[in-house]
Amino acid sequence: QSRLPGKFSEIGGMYPAHLLISQDELTAMVQRLGKQITEDYCGKQILLVSILKGSFIFCSDLVRAIDLPTTVEFMACSSYGGGTSSSGKVKIIKDLDCDIKDKHVILVEDIVDTGLTLSKLKEVLSLRHPASLKICTAFDKPVKRKVELHPEYVGIEVPDEFIIGYGLDYQNYYRNLSEIYAARPVEN
Ligand code: XMP
Ligand code: MG
Repeated sequence: QSRLPGKFSEIGGMYPAHLLISQDELTAMVQRLGKQITEDYCGKQILLVSILKGSFIFCSDLVRAIDLPTTVEFMACSSYGGGTSSSGKVKIIKDLDCDIKDKHVILVEDIVDTGLTLSKLKEVLSLRHPASLKICTAFDKPVKRKVELHPEYVGIEVPDEFIIGYGLDYQNYYRNLSEIYAARPVEN
């Protein structure tokens, strides 16, 4: 079995083993979500809150697929440490530096897994009285859910695999893969 060099290289004993979602599927997914959001918020201005770091590529595609007056802000939180399973502890590392009061806010996330990150963020942000607050996630892993959370906009449901690419990382690498892969341990 040949291991590819460059951005497909092994990192920390893991590698992109199996193509799960192609670039064409990602493009179609983003266009569909952008169109849906454009229709749902017709006549309004919206604020996308990109949850760093994983959603930066998805958000950059999504914002261009939305035909509305739109602003983008960033927030960062952590729940995973460096590994492939959720620690359950959600920490805000970088808060918003704008006021969201009376704004139509959409939280843009890479993937919803246990749901702990977004339920915590929703709780924190709703205390700031936005006009509305919804969630748009590129990927959803519903089998791993630990809290009840139903994102209003879901791109693609994924199986119980650790996925990388299109902004999603393993140990901060692989975000620059253009498709989604299942990360698996290398066999020696
Ligand atoms: P929770 O469990 O709080 O987790 O819904 C959401 C965050 O966990 C990360 N996550 C992943 N990152 N591949 C990744 O690269 C995955 O398969 C995966 N599952 C969860 C992600 O950062 C997300 O924001
Ligand atoms: Mg991550």
